[in-house]
Amino acid sequence: MQPSQRLSKIPPYLFAELERKISARRAEGADVISLGIGDPDRPTPPLIVEAAQEALTEPETHQYPTNRGRQDFREAVCDFYQRRFDVTLDPAHEVIPAIGAKEAIFNLNLAFLDPGDYALAADPGYPIYTAGPWLVGAEPVLMALDPERGFTPDLEHIDESVLQRAKLMYLNYPNNPTGAVAPEGFFEHVVEFARANDVLVVHDNAYSETTYDSYTAPSFLATPGAKDVGIEVFSLSKGYNMTGWRCAVVVGNAEAVETYWRLKTNIDSGLFEAVQLAGVAALSPDADAEVAAMKELYRGRRDLVCEALRAIGVHVTPPRATIYVWAPVPQGFASSVEYCEHVLERTDVVISPGSAYGPSGEGWFRISLTTPEHRLQQAVERLGSLA
Ligand SMILES: Cc1ncc(COP(=O)(O)O)c(C=O)c1O
Repeated sequence: MQPSQRLSKIPPYLFAELERKISARRAEGADVISLGIGDPDRPTPPLIVEAAQEALTEPETHQYPTNRGRQDFREAVCDFYQRRFDVTLDPAHEVIPAIGAKEAIFNLNLAFLDPGDYALAADPGYPIYTAGPWLVGAEPVLMALDPERGFTPDLEHIDESVLQRAKLMYLNYPNNPTGAVAPEGFFEHVVEFARANDVLVVHDNAYSETTYDSYTAPSFLATPGAKDVGIEVFSLSKGYNMTGWRCAVVVGNAEAVETYWRLKTNIDSGLFEAVQLAGVAALSPDADAEVAAMKELYRGRRDLVCEALRAIGVHVTPPRATIYVWAPVPQGFASSVEYCEHVLERTDVVISPGSAYGPSGEGWFRISLTTPEHRLQQAVERLGSLA
């Protein structure tokens, strides 16, 4: 049996060897602590769970949802965008529910790319920005996120031949894996670039609700002109501890939102209505205190990890957002994979090699803050023993 050529183009899974080693250590009885995956460990806040419980008892939620989504869900998204980002959205034309951001991002490739087209993808970046274009027969073109430029791409120096074939551009701030936030003026620059080159911007807004030190993350759509050139994928996964629920939205440019909807009507049958009603509860002001408490929890964990890294000589900049610490691989290691394997072998702590997120991630590693305090404390103590 042969997988499709498209599937074969996806680069080999860099975590595979690390996972084999983790399994081997666990089989030997080792107490392995994983700081690898970014999946919130805290439960979904009770007010969201209760809204879903109530919705489950309503038979109207048991049938096929429409791909447009419930009116009350779309209105709740618009109210949230107005209240939180000062962005006005039209619930009839500028909002469509998605079965998680990952679904939306993959399907946007199907909706907008033909064979031979390019998608500009942040490097390092969330892997679907590159796998998505390959899987639809198009091609990703990597845009290196330069630490010297605050982990933004150099839009001035993208090859003319690339620009002619580029139809989509994936960006993500606050950023996974680097923890960077969009520098002042950057989104304005993106809007100009997209307008000049007729590229649809897809801004992946997965981490706007997890910010620290009085930083508040904006929506890309708050940038003047952004709605003319772009859409935003807003996910409830991380900010509301809802990764398993699969709840996100695609918002912004009405023509692009409509195109995404048209594609989806051919592929899936929409977002479970009980999940949409849970989303209404999550996006209401009633959940603000829960979001604030999660920020405080992660801030404490971030400080714990950054202090421990500094103590072993790793020069780390504490992130102002996201659930990740992105740090340079210490001297003496040939690659980020080699360093992560060394840490695993010596301490039974799992951290992610930067190269797993793209070639520009080489030389860095990522620590996820989604581990309960006592385990994180143990992990940093073990890291300390490396000094
Ligand atoms: C940048 C980014 N976008 C999207 C996602 C996935 O979001 P969802 O759970 O809504 O599919 C992740 C998950 O790690 C992510 O890091």
